[in-house]
Amino acid sequence: MADTSEHATSSHASSSHARSSHAAASRTFRHAVVTGGAGFVGGHLCEALLDRGVTVTCVDDFSSGSPANVAHLDDARLDDARPAGHARFHLVEADLTRPGALDAVPTDVDLVLHLASPASPVAYLSRPVETLQVASLGTQQALDLARAAGARFLLASTSEVYGDPAVHPQREDYWGNVNPIGPRSVYDEGKRYAEALTTAYRGACGTDTAIARIFNTYGPRMRADDGRMIPAFVMQALAGEPLTVAGDGSQTRSVCYVDDLVRGLLALADSDLPGPVNLGSSTELTVAQIAADVLAETGSSSTTVFVDLPEDDPRRRRPDTSLARSALGWRATTDWPTGLGRTVAWFRDTLAGTGQLTGAGRPGAGRAGAGDGLGE
Ligand SMILES: NC(=O)c1ccc[n+]([C@@H]2O[C@H](COP(=O)([O-])OP(=O)(O)OC[C@H]3O[C@@H](n4cnc5c(N)ncnc54)[C@H](O)[C@@H]3O)[C@@H](O)[C@H]2O)c1
Repeated sequence: MADTSEHATSSHASSSHARSSHAAASRTFRHAVVTGGAGFVGGHLCEALLDRGVTVTCVDDFSSGSPANVAHLDDARLDDARPAGHARFHLVEADLTRPGALDAVPTDVDLVLHLASPASPVAYLSRPVETLQVASLGTQQALDLARAAGARFLLASTSEVYGDPAVHPQREDYWGNVNPIGPRSVYDEGKRYAEALTTAYRGACGTDTAIARIFNTYGPRMRADDGRMIPAFVMQALAGEPLTVAGDGSQTRSVCYVDDLVRGLLALADSDLPGPVNLGSSTELTVAQIAADVLAETGSSSTTVFVDLPEDDPRRRRPDTSLARSALGWRATTDWPTGLGRTVAWFRDTLAGTGQLTGAGRPGAGRAGAGDGLGE
């Protein structure tokens, strides 16, 4: 499907000139706290920060993430300027839904990246109250840390704030179409509240905040069993099981490779922009096309079966990224075949030796609808 967003939205880009005037300021951060840093995106983000010379404190309760996602960071990047044993990476186990969860975190931080949240439908539907709590109390505690430290704060929000969008592609000034009592509302409304709270801290407390609206992102280290479309398809294809496509597969998603997203998050952190800023790929693919490409990339002879569409599943998703382009100089650059190839290679390498690619022991095996276009 052709990417027309740049041309179609040029008037938006120029009319949002005032917003674009927050042009990228290049900052130097010394110490970042990454909540949810042991998750899929968080692990890549911690790695990128360490590569930039930043000390990182990762805070996570491992509810959907894992220490394995950051195990390679523990002692790999020792700071030469410090005595041996003083690593620049610190892992703190804490649940942000608990008051005082960040008390053990150092306050000499200049960047707080708040990612902690269940992110897949399987995760947030199984922990609905905790999902609302981490969006509310968790976000407030992360904001309080940033405020006390005088740090830049970045909220990892989501395209889900647009719900099942009535306008296409989605621009930051679209207010969304969310069912406040539907099954997905714990996540969608939680993130909408987190955006409101972040905006209130900026206005009332002078906290230096930014909001990123992240669209579907994929790549190595996604959990195989969390119901998100791409890992589910890849696992099904590698196991020789049918790929479960929701509806007739004509609904669309725009999928962004994780390295591009991380670059976008850091560009936003580096800037003075408050956001919200959409970060995602402008290339729109049908879910049926994604399934077909996974079959081709894996060389699998699996078939495709169609299952019921989940409630409130959005029909179309594509970000208007003209603000990120004009204000941050950012766009997703990894094309889908390249990103998919890397992702499939990672799943093959990581899981082949574990015996998880065949049989009922495979995570998520046999779960109906696992390959649908749900969520992110
Ligand atoms: N991956 C995507 O496509 C996508 C799209 C939109 C938004 N996002 C947002 O980006 C962030 C990261 O998503 P992800 O895909 O890496 O998901 P993930 O589940 O892999 O990572 C989330 C991390 O947060 C941790 N966490 C959850 N609740 C917590 C709590 N109460 N206290 C401490 N830690 C907690 C989990 O253990 C996990 O490590 C989330 O906020 C998500 O909403 C992701």
